[in-house]
Amino acid sequence: MPEDSHETFLADFALMSTFGATAGGGVERQAATPEDGQVRAWLTDLFRKSGFEVHLDGIGNLYGLIEFSPGADYVLFGSHLDSQPMAGKYDGAYGVLAAFHAVVRVAEAHRAAGTMPKYNLAVVDWFNEEGSRFKPSMMGSAVYSGKLSIDEALSISDSGGVSVRDALTALDAVGDFTLPPIAGYAEIHIEQGPSMDDSGVKIGAVAATWCAYKYEVAVQGEQGHTGSMRMASRKDALLGAAHLITAVNELVDDFEQETLHTTVSELYVLPNSPVTIAREVRLHIDMRAENTEILDRALALLLAKIELLEQRTRTAVQFLASNTWRSGTFVEAGVKLVEDAADELGHSHARVKTLAGHDATNIKDLVPTVLVFVPSIDGISHNERELTSDIDMLAGVDVFERIVHAIVTGALD
Ligand code: GLV
Ligand code: MN
Ligand code: MN
Repeated sequence: MPEDSHETFLADFALMSTFGATAGGGVERQAATPEDGQVRAWLTDLFRKSGFEVHLDGIGNLYGLIEFSPGADYVLFGSHLDSQPMAGKYDGAYGVLAAFHAVVRVAEAHRAAGTMPKYNLAVVDWFNEEGSRFKPSMMGSAVYSGKLSIDEALSISDSGGVSVRDALTALDAVGDFTLPPIAGYAEIHIEQGPSMDDSGVKIGAVAATWCAYKYEVAVQGEQGHTGSMRMASRKDALLGAAHLITAVNELVDDFEQETLHTTVSELYVLPNSPVTIAREVRLHIDMRAENTEILDRALALLLAKIELLEQRTRTAVQFLASNTWRSGTFVEAGVKLVEDAADELGHSHARVKTLAGHDATNIKDLVPTVLVFVPSIDGISHNERELTSDIDMLAGVDVFERIVHAIVTGALD
């Protein structure tokens, strides 16, 4: 690609990263916050200036469309602009901008050559991929792919009691658009783990996804005075939660190293007073592995550990809600497409797995889907220090352009 298109990408990336910028060089724009609204408005403007038609669906997914052939199906490219709290600026946002630039280049090439792609093109910013403010993660793509009902999604509330419906309405981000049928989907994303950086590989062809079991859990105890209550009578929910956190983390000791990843990632203590024993702690358990056999075994072990900790701390652990996804593979033709595009451009590549969830994880169950990774330095992600070099980002956009070109001309049919 000519230098100036690389410069334009980097300039757009720098501008996009100013929305919700943090002092530490990252971004904070959790779903449907004013900062998310600002970056979405910026993308809307970018779409319009480049001749895309802009639409919103009922769960706030933001689409930019380029129609070549009225009535033909679309192919969709994108990722997400929302972020975790105190996050890096690459996670999701890189993929939306890369999709936009790649689609613009492919559309311009067709216009210049007077040719017609087989499919129309669309770029999407999926609403609430991160799931930090509103659980579950990958919400917009879950609704789009029929895994979550729109009514259920709209009525989910954040920790302050604000619903998705109200938060989206405040941003004027609820529409009634239905994207015409899509024939395929592709997404480019930073790896978020260390495997590519460790091995020096520039392009990851994602061949499979790990699975996840996530649980919303309450540890029930009884409120009491921190000074005067007898130790032997206490039902301290925070003590129960501490044992639970340890139990979740120690599950991995029963498995081969790095085949099971577990954590407790969120904690709410009630009433959270320095002079009161906690009556309830709500927490979030996140377990990931390559296959559900591992997760099922881990869950059974956890349930046994929970029984013991309940007795020991005189608390009760309740599972309130769950969100899970299964492991799965990406279509071989798509994996091959990534490898061919990387070869043509002279970039090293490898078949990799995604340990993180992505919107592509949802969409792959609907239509042929391609997921491409570029390296994350030291595998750091969900952290302001997240970093992908400019050279690696630009290589990814060039590879993605080839993939867009191939898919719109029917390579995944
Ligand atoms: C989203 O990135 C997730 O892994 O839940
Ligand atoms: Mn992401
Ligand atoms: Mn993320």
